[in-house]
Amino acid sequence: MLLLAIAFVAGLMVEYASAKDVYYDWHITWVNAAPDGFERPVIGINDKWPCPQIDINVGDRLIIDVHNDLGNQTTGIHWHGLYQYMTGYMDGTVGVTQCPIPPGKKMRYEVEVNQTGTYWYHSHKMGQYPDGLRGAIIVHDPNAPFEYDDEFTILLSDWYHEQMVPLVEQYLSENSDPATGGLEPLPNSALVNDAINSTIKVEPDKTYLVHLLAVGNWPGFAFLFDQHNMTVVEVDGAYVDPYPVGDKNLRIATGQRTSVLIHTKNDTSQNYAFWTIMDLNMMFVYENRTIPQGYNPNATAWLVYDETKPLPPAPIIYEFDFVDDLDFVPADHEPLLEPVDHQIIMDLNSAEVDGGLVRFVINNQTYIQQDTPSLYTALELKSQSESDLSAYGEVNPYVVNYGDVVEIIVNDYHSNLHPFHLHGHDFQCLQRTAPDGGYFDGLWANISATPMKRDTLMVQNHGHFVIRYRATNPDKSFPLYRSRVVNSIC
Ligand SMILES: *[C@@H]1O[C@H](CO)[C@@H](O)[C@H](O)[C@H]1NC(C)=O
Ligand SMILES: *[C@@H]1O[C@H](CO)[C@@H](O)[C@H](O)[C@H]1NC(C)=O
Ligand SMILES: *[C@@H]1O[C@H](CO)[C@@H](O)[C@H](O)[C@H]1NC(C)=O
Ligand SMILES: *[C@@H]1O[C@H](CO)[C@@H](O)[C@H](O)[C@H]1NC(C)=O
Ligand SMILES: *[C@@H]1O[C@H](CO)[C@@H](O)[C@H](O)[C@H]1NC(C)=O
Ligand SMILES: *[C@@H]1O[C@H](CO)[C@@H](O)[C@H](O)[C@H]1NC(C)=O
Ligand SMILES: *[C@@H]1O[C@H](CO)[C@@H](O)[C@H](O)[C@H]1NC(C)=O
Ligand SMILES: *[C@@H]1O[C@H](CO)[C@@H](O)[C@H](O)[C@H]1NC(C)=O
Ligand SMILES: *[C@@H]1O[C@H](CO)[C@@H](O)[C@H](O)[C@H]1NC(C)=O
Repeated sequence: MLLLAIAFVAGLMVEYASAKDVYYDWHITWVNAAPDGFERPVIGINDKWPCPQIDINVGDRLIIDVHNDLGNQTTGIHWHGLYQYMTGYMDGTVGVTQCPIPPGKKMRYEVEVNQTGTYWYHSHKMGQYPDGLRGAIIVHDPNAPFEYDDEFTILLSDWYHEQMVPLVEQYLSENSDPATGGLEPLPNSALVNDAINSTIKVEPDKTYLVHLLAVGNWPGFAFLFDQHNMTVVEVDGAYVDPYPVGDKNLRIATGQRTSVLIHTKNDTSQNYAFWTIMDLNMMFVYENRTIPQGYNPNATAWLVYDETKPLPPAPIIYEFDFVDDLDFVPADHEPLLEPVDHQIIMDLNSAEVDGGLVRFVINNQTYIQQDTPSLYTALELKSQSESDLSAYGEVNPYVVNYGDVVEIIVNDYHSNLHPFHLHGHDFQCLQRTAPDGGYFDGLWANISATPMKRDTLMVQNHGHFVIRYRATNPDKSFPLYRSRVVNSIC
């Protein structure tokens, strides 16, 4: 009776729940942790690590005071996948939308969350989040177009025993083969939920909504549950028509999120492994590296039905047969955006630049750090000169007009795959080649009338992708100056 009464009251609360402010006070601090058994300093929140998951409801306003208590590094936090409609200055992208938060200072982020599904937050200060400063954001939706009994989150990441500052320094100083583009440091472990040997307690005969997030530094992941079929219902915050994965595998690139439904077994006679592997071909095949003896790219974790029963080993996978995410159909069936107002072609490659160092280039140019974040430059300009590219300095900007349908083509001339993330929007994915599938040469005949949408997409080596979005996320300027002057320095 008591349980029923509580359920009834909870039901009423959901019914009458309205948008609310969700407040967090975060001190960014160094903490010691040993997720894979090796202890090292990591970046945590309020002296704890792993960092907390944010759970909010659609319509809520997230208010987060971020105090930089690191002492020896600046920071800034990006809310990956949240559009920041009209609030680009809250995007947390150090050097683009804000100056970094110096040690001892604080910045208040305010984000009105008008989206549903799976997102994440992470430091957007060069190379910092793989030292630990990242976590999931789940935006609950009382009107989700599918039913489930409960939900849980699985974070996938690569992990390093050394800190990012020395690793990035080593990577950038490496004098390597232009054909391969520099040898990224090898991760020491793959983690599931920031640990080795993670377990998740499940109940029999229930439908679970599982949020899978790749929050690592470099390689993507293949993923499967042993003997539990997945049905994909959301990618990067966009609901998709339910897509049964069947006997195939999921592949999730860094920055991507995929939510699946699974139904648990009817009895508790055994526990089941789930298994993930870092994208090995990013590390070895194309990089002329040999696999060090005993190197383990896998992580195994378990769905636990009964704690007294053993944890079985992961199934051995002999062959990968990945679901092609371009086969998903967005649940809103948004028609193909056309006509295109503005086409941008980006040729990605690695090349020798000054001193023989190898750097990634787009259209033959390296990334150039802005002296002043580009958003500040744009806001300080008179409207008639916003499209004057020279106003931004030598940062290779593109300016698009409000409302434009923008088509971006990425040709990957490099011998490795690369995920791309667009801030402030999701985009339609029109076409993408298989590995070695060649460069853009016009649109294929088989473009979907309702292309898959997401905010992060992987391009294959020696291949290309084509995406479109409508540029409908302008900025309003005035609170910017407050956050700029009070909270951060460039
Ligand atoms: C994980 O489990 C394996 C196999 O049971 C065990 O050998 C290993 O020590 C465990 N590692 C950690 C960090 O718990
Ligand atoms: C900053 O301080 C932490 C904690 O003492 C230390 O582990 C780390 O190496 C320092 N990083 C830099 C870049 O100085
Ligand atoms: C929130 O999303 C709904 C549906 O897409 C839209 O109608 C509304 O204008 C949005 N509100 C804001 C503040 O973005
Ligand atoms: C999973 O899906 C495959 C392909 O549709 C099917 O053959 C298999 O029986 C399913 N397995 C379970 C445990 O439902
Ligand atoms: C599990 O039980 C539910 C109802 O209790 C039933 O609908 C379902 O068919 C059962 N599944 C299996 C695999 O026995
Ligand atoms: C690396 O491998 C590629 C492709 O197999 C080959 O073309 C290239 O010459 C190799 N580079 C080195 C330095 O061995
Ligand atoms: C990782 O998993 C793959 C696929 O099951 C397996 O072939 C390989 O032996 C595993 N590697 C290690 C080090 O356990
Ligand atoms: C980049 O450089 C290559 C070789 O120098 C040249 O063929 C190509 O046209 C350049 N691409 C762009 C976009 O400038
Ligand atoms: C679409 O057509 C192109 C060219 O014929 C082909 O390479 C590609 O695999 C097709 N894509 C799908 C999803 O059928």
